Amino acid sequence: VRELRVHIPQREYSIFIGAGILKASGALLRQCSNAAKAAVITDENVLPLYAAVVEDSLRHNGFAPATVVVPAGELSKSADVLLRVYDGLLAMELTRSDLIVALGGGVVGDLAGYAAATYLRGVPFAQMPTTLLAQVDSSVGGKVAVNLPHGKNLIGAFYQPKMVITDTGTLDTLPPRVFADGMGEIIKHGAIADASLFAVLESGHWDREEIIYANCDIKRRVVEADEYDTGGRMVLNFGHTFGHVIETADGFARYTHGEAVAIGMVMAAEFGERLGVTAAGTAARLKHVLTRYQLPIETDMACDLRTMLLDKKRSGGKLHLVLLRDIGKAAIHPFAVAELEKLL
Ligand SMILES: NC(=O)c1ccc[n+]([C@@H]2O[C@H](COP(=O)([O-])OP(=O)(O)OC[C@H]3O[C@@H](n4cnc5c(N)ncnc54)[C@H](O)[C@@H]3O)[C@@H](O)[C@H]2O)c1
Ligand SMILES: [Zn+2]
Repeated sequence: VRELRVHIPQREYSIFIGAGILKASGALLRQCSNAAKAAVITDENVLPLYAAVVEDSLRHNGFAPATVVVPAGELSKSADVLLRVYDGLLAMELTRSDLIVALGGGVVGDLAGYAAATYLRGVPFAQMPTTLLAQVDSSVGGKVAVNLPHGKNLIGAFYQPKMVITDTGTLDTLPPRVFADGMGEIIKHGAIADASLFAVLESGHWDREEIIYANCDIKRRVVEADEYDTGGRMVLNFGHTFGHVIETADGFARYTHGEAVAIGMVMAAEFGERLGVTAAGTAARLKHVLTRYQLPIETDMACDLRTMLLDKKRSGGKLHLVLLRDIGKAAIHPFAVAELEKLL
């Protein structure tokens, strides 16, 4: 088992990474919690796979567990489902000295985390991420949120967990496309911050736990330097501005988030190369590694890149694009809207 400490003043916590560690989750949680009750929030897919092992371990360590189940999928990050989660917490009479556990992918993590941040003005919570994306990305950093009909993550908070317990064994049951989705963010982390990680991904010879640890470590560094997302944390958006154009044009139907980001990263690298900001050959390396992990590198869908300028046009602001200088080095470039319109 590997342990990574996240140093956020007054709210330091550990991320434990290992195969099969859900069995020890109750014992691990006792390191950070005196709770009598634990509400395990999970979704319908994860429930039959992993809820029992977590509940048993909680019980063995003196927690009284109760499970709140939500439907699987992004639609559960809604105000409606959030209210149902609060109902579940009330029904078990959960108090502020108890604990909320998010057992599932990024949807459950964001939803349960937001419920934890707001129920009774805040209840301690722990993350047990079960998708690759959640293990390397959404469970680290303390962003929790639900969506509004108007857009994603419009209601949210910065709320750090007390602990993250990452059982890499849970990845064995992931559908291949959900696994590939997480690979998109892993490749992104290598591209923006770690050339040697990127090279290991290119080689194809790597150990799952080691890669997940390395990715959490990259995200940890970025988040520690900019917890509230006012500057440096923006590098994590590499490929996301272009990717978002694809997700929007596609109506969130054909491509997963990771797939849209994959195409977005290639677009950003090609754009950077055209401007002379990004080292020649960078887009080619990205395409090669994305293809290796079953991610797309281009789309035949008509998508107008200028749509990403619409909001900025109205507000008259600058658009900040994350571009690579080279593999492993990202930089934030502000563009005036008119300038970018010409370049695109
Ligand atoms: N908070 C953040 O910093 C942050 C960062 C990135 C993404 N996100 C959010 O994360 C969400 C996406 O997360 P996701 O990709 O994990 O999606 P998800 O939670 O919907 O999980 C994907 C699918 O896999 C299933 N599943 C989960 N674990 C499984 C397992 N071990 N075996 C089999 N099936 C399993 C789920 O039921 C679901 O059907 C989005 O809402 C996004 O906004 C948040
Ligand atoms: Zn992303």
